[in-house]
Amino acid sequence: MKILGIETTCDETAAAVVALGEGERGHILANEVLSQIAEHAAYGGVVPEIAARAHVEVLDRLIARALQRAGTDLAGLDGIAVAAGPGLIGGVLIGLVTAKTLALVARKPLLAVNHLEAHALTPRLTDGLAFPYLLLLASGGHTQLVAVKGVGEYVRLGTTIDDAIGEAFDKVAKLLGLGYPGGPEVERLAEEGDPERFALPRPMIGRREADFSLSGLKTALRLEAERLAPLASRDVADLCASFQAAVVDVVVDRVRVALRAFGGVAGHPTALVAAGGVAANGAIRRALAAQAGEVGLGFVAPPLPLCGDNGAMIAWAGLERLRLGLIDDLTVPARARWPFAQAPQAS
Ligand code: KG4
Ligand code: ZN
Repeated sequence: MKILGIETTCDETAAAVVALGEGERGHILANEVLSQIAEHAAYGGVVPEIAARAHVEVLDRLIARALQRAGTDLAGLDGIAVAAGPGLIGGVLIGLVTAKTLALVARKPLLAVNHLEAHALTPRLTDGLAFPYLLLLASGGHTQLVAVKGVGEYVRLGTTIDDAIGEAFDKVAKLLGLGYPGGPEVERLAEEGDPERFALPRPMIGRREADFSLSGLKTALRLEAERLAPLASRDVADLCASFQAAVVDVVVDRVRVALRAFGGVAGHPTALVAAGGVAANGAIRRALAAQAGEVGLGFVAPPLPLCGDNGAMIAWAGLERLRLGLIDDLTVPARARWPFAQAPQAS
């Protein structure tokens, strides 16, 4: 089984070909990603109109390259998967219309994939992980703790009531005058800084629900930065380190609460999983690995290129759906908003 995956929901244009490999894992035959970071950097964030235009300009060539690298052509595919949302609607439409056209012309099944579901299923692509597992999905737009019970069976145990974790990293970077995207920059500087210099708050710690709140932490950091201005490079590094340490503490506490709730909705987890762009953060990965070890669980996080947005995860989610016969027709809509996990049922 060989699936083409197309991703255009944000600022990465991506196309990949994934086959079913050994041990219920995916075998990535090609994984082409073109980042638009340079186009958006001057604005300190993603500009939807620029993103959509950039996707149009490169997507067809990127797909051709992915097929070529995978040693196949359209006829050799078993299905065409595309992220149909959630995301910036202009970009989503470009990917979806392209995928529909290819599916129609090549007479292949169309698989409209939820971008968040694709992040959530990535540990099955990389490690063949069995259901159910506890997922921390953290990116620039989303922060959720989810019990992943099966394909299409996702129970939300917690979410953020304000900023996403990646968004908080990006905002902190911006207010400290660092580059975009902020996560990798903040992490790099945090390594040189003193995580204990600033006593920043740890919002939500101790709450019974596994929800997050990050805007208060971000504001506390801004006040410290304003108090110290103009900032020396030492100050910036210490602020980054203190911020990241606070985020790590919050994440570990929220995951603890979610692990407690997990049994009630999904039984015993096979592993703790981190996915989404924020899962690239080494401090968060190390803390979660240690935490999982303490409760006798494995920890799985995708290799760095598969943490951020990519086509392989879309192809894999499409492959999982195709195996279950979950094929879409050409009327499937592009969705700016598309929640993928349900709240737990009251019992
Ligand atoms: O999943 P992703 O590539 O795109 C979506 O938002 O869907 O995630 C991007 C987010 C950005 O907010 C970025 O700052 C954050 O992930 N990120 C990180 C790191 N690398 C990327 N956050 C913290 N530490 C990192 N090393
Ligand atoms: Zn993403």
